[in-house]
Amino acid sequence: MSRLWRLVLGGLVAAVPLAAWSDVTADRLARGKYLMDSVVACGNCHVQRGPQGEPLFERGLSGGFKFDAPPFTSYAANITPDAETGIGRWTEAQLVKAIREGVRPDGSLIGWPMPIEYYRHLSDDDVAALVAYLRAQPAVANAVPKSVYRIPLPASYGPPVGKVKAPPAKDLRRYGEYLANIAHCMECHTPRDDKGELIESRLGAGGQPFKGPWGVSVSRNLTPDAAGLKSWSDAQIAQAIRTGVRPDGQALKPPMGFGFYSKISDADMKALIAYLRSLKPQKP
Ligand code: HEC
Ligand code: HEC
Repeated sequence: MSRLWRLVLGGLVAAVPLAAWSDVTADRLARGKYLMDSVVACGNCHVQRGPQGEPLFERGLSGGFKFDAPPFTSYAANITPDAETGIGRWTEAQLVKAIREGVRPDGSLIGWPMPIEYYRHLSDDDVAALVAYLRAQPAVANAVPKSVYRIPLPASYGPPVGKVKAPPAKDLRRYGEYLANIAHCMECHTPRDDKGELIESRLGAGGQPFKGPWGVSVSRNLTPDAAGLKSWSDAQIAQAIRTGVRPDGQALKPPMGFGFYSKISDADMKALIAYLRSLKPQKP
């Protein structure tokens, strides 16, 4: 083989991993963007808001939204890559740990209402995609006030998360459960006891109140009971989730992130509905 050919071939061999690497990166970013814009919807809490609570999408995920509840006054953090006021200095591994375990690089715990228990279910691939997306966003400077927790946070949200794999997408019910977890649907749609703990035996029965500028909304029964979604068609369920409009024409109130959920793909919606239909029916 001539020296020239060897150089050309050597160049090709070197070029292959490079191309594969940028494909992986592009796929990751695209997956991260899809999850952020739709089912995971971190922006429902982390998008900066104006005085009337209106989302300021041009300010990205720079935070500041205030959550006022008896046990805490917390503020969604700035999760843009700004070095001073955001997550600009955090490594990829530190971000993964923060999202799935609620532990910051300094060891402190991220507080309510970020649904860490649900984000523990995020697969290694999906959490990497979310982190790739976060790190690719423009840095936005926005200093957010410090949250105040009037009752102690738990010592941890659980043991370190090991390797997590999503169930296969063709297993509709299980993949739908995975999506419902990373969307924390059941965190809002399950009633709580007087200690604020979710009543797991009443999974999906609804009945949790949410106060906000919209007044009070109460989460609804998502189970296949007559008081829930039993008589709704798949199209009616999809319409309510995507647009916030019920079959009777009534418009649903926040805080469910309809603006995000409008971008849930048809395949993912089918899986979510298969999961909802598999829930144990719950009476009111
Ligand atoms: C229900 C609202 C809510 C959702 C949804 C939510 N967060 Fe948060 N997040 C918060 C709040 C509130 C804080 C601040 C908590 C505190 O001060 O301890 C926070 C803190 C954080 C922090 C810590 C930043 C810092 O500087 O301390 C990171 C990182 C983060 N969120 C990332 C995410 C990502 C990524 C998602 C989506 C996968 C997400 N959050 C979804 C409410 C939310
Ligand atoms: C932050 C809390 C929250 C999250 C997260 C949330 N929801 Fe909701 N959802 C609500 C509330 C509150 C209502 C009722 C609003 C109203 O009555 O105006 C509602 C209404 C609904 C309805 C309409 C039911 C009916 O009988 O009218 C459906 C369907 C629904 N949610 C499905 C879902 C699914 C699926 C997910 C996850 C992808 C989800 N929700 C995530 C709070 C939430």
